[in-house]
Amino acid sequence: MSKPIRVVLRKSTETSTLVVYASKGKKSGTPSTAKLGPGIQKLLEVAHKDGAFHGDKKEALFFRHCKADGHENVLFIGLGEKPTAECFRVAAAVTLAALKAHKVTSAGVLGDSIIKQVKDGAHALQALAEGFMLSVYEFNEMKTKRASDAKKAELEEISVLFAGAPSAAYGKAVERATVLAECQNFARRLGDLPSSHLTPTHLAEETIKAAKGTKLKVTVWDEARIKKERFGGLMFVAQGSDEPPRFIIMEYNGAPKSKKPVCFVGKGLTFDSGGISIKPSQSMEEMKYDMCGGATVIGTMLALAKLNAKVNAIAYVPATENMPGGSAAKPGDIYYARNGKTVEVFNTDAEGRLILGDALAYACEQKPAVILDAATLTGAILVSLGNTHTGVFSRDEKLLKKLQAASDTTGELIWPMPLTDFHRDDMKGIHADLCNISSGRLAGSSTAAAFLEEFISDGIPWAHFDIAGTAWNQHGRYLYCPRKGASGVMVRTFVEFAENY
Ligand code: BES
Ligand code: ZN
Ligand code: ZN
Repeated sequence: MSKPIRVVLRKSTETSTLVVYASKGKKSGTPSTAKLGPGIQKLLEVAHKDGAFHGDKKEALFFRHCKADGHENVLFIGLGEKPTAECFRVAAAVTLAALKAHKVTSAGVLGDSIIKQVKDGAHALQALAEGFMLSVYEFNEMKTKRASDAKKAELEEISVLFAGAPSAAYGKAVERATVLAECQNFARRLGDLPSSHLTPTHLAEETIKAAKGTKLKVTVWDEARIKKERFGGLMFVAQGSDEPPRFIIMEYNGAPKSKKPVCFVGKGLTFDSGGISIKPSQSMEEMKYDMCGGATVIGTMLALAKLNAKVNAIAYVPATENMPGGSAAKPGDIYYARNGKTVEVFNTDAEGRLILGDALAYACEQKPAVILDAATLTGAILVSLGNTHTGVFSRDEKLLKKLQAASDTTGELIWPMPLTDFHRDDMKGIHADLCNISSGRLAGSSTAAAFLEEFISDGIPWAHFDIAGTAWNQHGRYLYCPRKGASGVMVRTFVEFAENY
């Protein structure tokens, strides 16, 4: 895997390459930043006067051998106007790209130029540290010759420099960033691994391996147990594949036993060919990322344990392939789900909802405080929201507010989507209780959510996250994500939510 980068705090501003963050200056003034030495201040003023640097988002200006105030090189990075935490994540990616372009292998960033820009300095520092660690992620473990092996000199550490002793809160912020980024990168790796190397069995093994040494308890059900537990939807989807399904359970107790757990459910479809309702071949290779909901909840549980969160939490990941083998289920087939409802399957490509239905019904039986599920559930959510916003479905306004608050803190964008009785009525079956596709053709993400709702017991707060668009980064929108690949989306938001529920 890609080499991680360490972020360390130092009580000294000595460094050969100093990185200075600056927000966009008001009309004629220079970009705004911390108090600088006279040499660096002069560089900034001249750069601004020349029109070379304004403090705009994604701006970078490098001075080599400028020897300003004892620093050999100086790098200015723009944050934009009134920078948010997200601006610091982006700025971290821009910093690394500029340092790499100028072949700099050791650098220190001016701590005050981060914390003086915002009300909550520790939060900005956390975001910057997350940005560094998320930016260096690269899925290269299956290349025999890695680009990173070729050049020996690589940036392994970034120091954050303070003239005085850095406050304990800053140290905590960097520690938190390290855990969150590590667990998000772990979720990305699961998403990037091809189905040849990440079958349901492997997914379970990777989970067990990652949980070693933490307080997490991991239990994995095999096919016989899944059948015995009457997970009809999971068995229905799995029957077309030679790979056996798995049901992964993760438990974490960080609060008194009497406290009901926060429950996470994630779609673990390690490859979705569509089954007998087979998908077109264009981009089918991307369907290895159909387990990203599972990866998100696994990453979330790892992070909660590593952060010693004061919460009880459980995660369930139904895992299978969706293949058109000789014993595959056929359109029109009917199965009995875990909650006793019958489902007729008109399209075997709408399989995520079948395996989630069983997992959600089982989750409700445990009487949790709340259930959040994450799934690459519908192509329709890509049409509605693209790759930037995760669609959230819930009828619980109070829960939606809490989710929005968590998302505001982490910078992972969510958007509330409709879920109404209209959508529920569209999912009635003809010869069974339910049909797995809508009788109407539109609002595919909402009708999918309405199908899931059929497996939620009354009185349990629940929200569904359709991450089909956001789990896979493309078009290079997020600079701290790989240009094309799994994003590990919602790990940070789920952790934030659980800690504050
Ligand atoms: N895994 C797909 C959804 C998906 C599509 C994820 C594109 C990521 C990118 C899901 O299982 C699926 O195929 N859904 C169908 C449902 C339809 C048949 C009702 C879809 O969205 O086309
Ligand atoms: Zn599908
Ligand atoms: Zn799918």
